[in-house]
Amino acid sequence: MIEKNIHIPIMLDEVITHLDIQKNDCIIEGTAGFGGHTNEILKQLDKTGLYIGIDQDQTAINHSKEKFNSSPFANHYHDNFSNFETYLKKHKQTNFNKFFLDLGISSYQIDEAYRGFSHRFDGPLDMRMNTNSPINAKTILNTYSEESLSNIFYYYGELRHNKKLVENIIHNRKKSPLETTTDLRNIIKKSYFFHNKRSLFMKTCSQVFQAIRIEVNQEFKHIEETLPKLESYASNEAIIAILTFHSCEDRLIKKFIKQSKTLEFNPKSVIKPSKIERTNNSRSRSAKCRIIKKK
Ligand SMILES: C[S@@+](CC[C@H](N)C(=O)[O-])C[C@H]1O[C@@H](n2cnc3c(N)ncnc32)[C@H](O)[C@@H]1O
Repeated sequence: MIEKNIHIPIMLDEVITHLDIQKNDCIIEGTAGFGGHTNEILKQLDKTGLYIGIDQDQTAINHSKEKFNSSPFANHYHDNFSNFETYLKKHKQTNFNKFFLDLGISSYQIDEAYRGFSHRFDGPLDMRMNTNSPINAKTILNTYSEESLSNIFYYYGELRHNKKLVENIIHNRKKSPLETTTDLRNIIKKSYFFHNKRSLFMKTCSQVFQAIRIEVNQEFKHIEETLPKLESYASNEAIIAILTFHSCEDRLIKKFIKQSKTLEFNPKSVIKPSKIERTNNSRSRSAKCRIIKKK
């Protein structure tokens, strides 16, 4: 079992407190990952409860399956969380009581060079959470049009100035296709003035890699597909907790809840990690937790 680089669960206490899990709840965790939150979730259930854990990353779901195989009410599935209703039906449930999403990427994914998620390591331009998916970062960088690449960097990476970056990608790929994270990193280096500031270079690399990752995994599309299903399959007392790491994710959720006739934010405002957590775990810094309940 992989034990290195395991993800530290973010806002664990806040999530568990707000989900208020009852022993007999049917709870879906759509981003089971390496089971950091699962551990605490399962402690709240007894044999009358049902846990459904989903992750599109085969390594993560295999790990969680093995880790929790002694729990009689834990069930893990390799899939996209946007298909969660399939597993409710499989377990003969018409709705869920609790639903949890911890969006984004795990420390394992980002720290493994061969997955290609990080600009800090040399690796293939992959970035697929689900390695069965046909589109990877290499396909996007070597085949997408100038306009599509520019939109991806603008909207997903929040890189307002991306003209030179896109021009350099197109110019380089005409000579030979981009293959590795280092190829992309070298292009980023040539595309901006960093005034010898390493932190600025690292921030820009993070924005570029984040943008490509969101496109590879169609992250916003899956959130958009899932939100209406949450409305349809939530029981009367349902509680949904969603951890987001990108302003667009939070915006999508806010927009959906605003027009929803049955769901509302409760509490109304967003919950953020404590100062201690932000200091101890830098990956928690951009986290926002939304709690959604039936009206
Ligand atoms: C931040 S990690 C979850 C970490 C987990 N809460 C823990 O503490 O171990 C996010 C996980 O969600 C998965 N994921 C992201 N988007 C997904 C989607 N649309 N469907 C299924 N899994 C997804 C990723 O593969 C990753 O393992």
